[in-house]
Amino acid sequence: MSRSNLSRRAWARASALALVVLALAAGPAQAHHPRGLRDLAQRPLIGTAVNTDLLGSDATYTSILDREFNSVTPENAMKWESVERERGVLDFSAADRLVAHARAHRQIVRGHTLLWHNQLPAWLTSGTFTNDELEAILREHIIDEASHFRGRVYAWDVVNEAFNEDGTLRDTIWLRQLGPGYIAKAFRWAHQGDPHAKLYYNDYNLESIGPKSDAAYALVQDLRRQGVRIDGVGFQGHLGIQYPYPDTLGDNLERFAALGVDVALTEVDVRMILPVTAEKLATQAEQFKGMLNSCRAVRRCVSYTVWGFDDLHSWVPGVFAGEGAATPFDENYRPKPAYFALRDALARHRHR
Ligand code: XIL
Repeated sequence: MSRSNLSRRAWARASALALVVLALAAGPAQAHHPRGLRDLAQRPLIGTAVNTDLLGSDATYTSILDREFNSVTPENAMKWESVERERGVLDFSAADRLVAHARAHRQIVRGHTLLWHNQLPAWLTSGTFTNDELEAILREHIIDEASHFRGRVYAWDVVNEAFNEDGTLRDTIWLRQLGPGYIAKAFRWAHQGDPHAKLYYNDYNLESIGPKSDAAYALVQDLRRQGVRIDGVGFQGHLGIQYPYPDTLGDNLERFAALGVDVALTEVDVRMILPVTAEKLATQAEQFKGMLNSCRAVRRCVSYTVWGFDDLHSWVPGVFAGEGAATPFDENYRPKPAYFALRDALARHRHR
């Protein structure tokens, strides 16, 4: 036997052994090996806003969506302007497609949103209605939409962004024509439409303890006092690395939870002034992780949703001039440091 033969045999034996070792290691490791963020922890559910135009038509988008997330929020498809473009003609087709997709991929659906001051149909904003007419229109909208999705939507953002930064109520057609009682009415109608859905108040810049979150806190107390059902508060979590990080987020989530409501991070993204640098991506990753860890630390924090998972389709560049790169995947669907930070944070607390 030649030396080379021997070594070939030895190599073959060694590599056979290596294969066994690898197989043993891979066996159990694979069985527990998480495929995506959604598999790493029981709580919080890991969600994303979904662009229904891409659902099914963009294969990479759809496969990342289904691999990583177990909660979905339609980015636009359930908003009033999307479901009733023409007065009296309800079109839930895009939202229904999302709900069906979610069911097939074991994802829960967060309904967004029944009452807001943006993305209202033109017939509504350009029409003139008496206060009673407007109230009847709103009532019908909320009851119709909530009942259409009854049993298929886990939670509704019933009222979105009703407060100013100083905690006063935002000046909208709803406040102007229906008065401050419109919020309680909206929650009552949503409950009528879907008695089993969790009903949320949702807003941005609610992360820190301060005038705006104090107002949301008082709203929860006030609704409860009136016997109006509210089940949760959504903290949107739209941050930017050029601003101070909301260090009081954890305490804030805790104080809301202590009121007996669920809490959720509902629209997380962390924007930056372009161009992207490695340092900015590292800061961004810290902030994504920080918000997740705050949620993980509070038992009643049920979900953590990113507002779009890839930089190509994020709403940020279109709204904040010169800013972008706000999501965990880049424009080519490659995971960024923020993605790995989320993964590590979830994996680290896996057995807690
Ligand atoms: C944004 C969507 O991402 C955009 O596609 C749309 O053009 C405007 O609305 N707060 C909310 C979300 O509650 O509904 C908003 O979504 C982002 C801010």
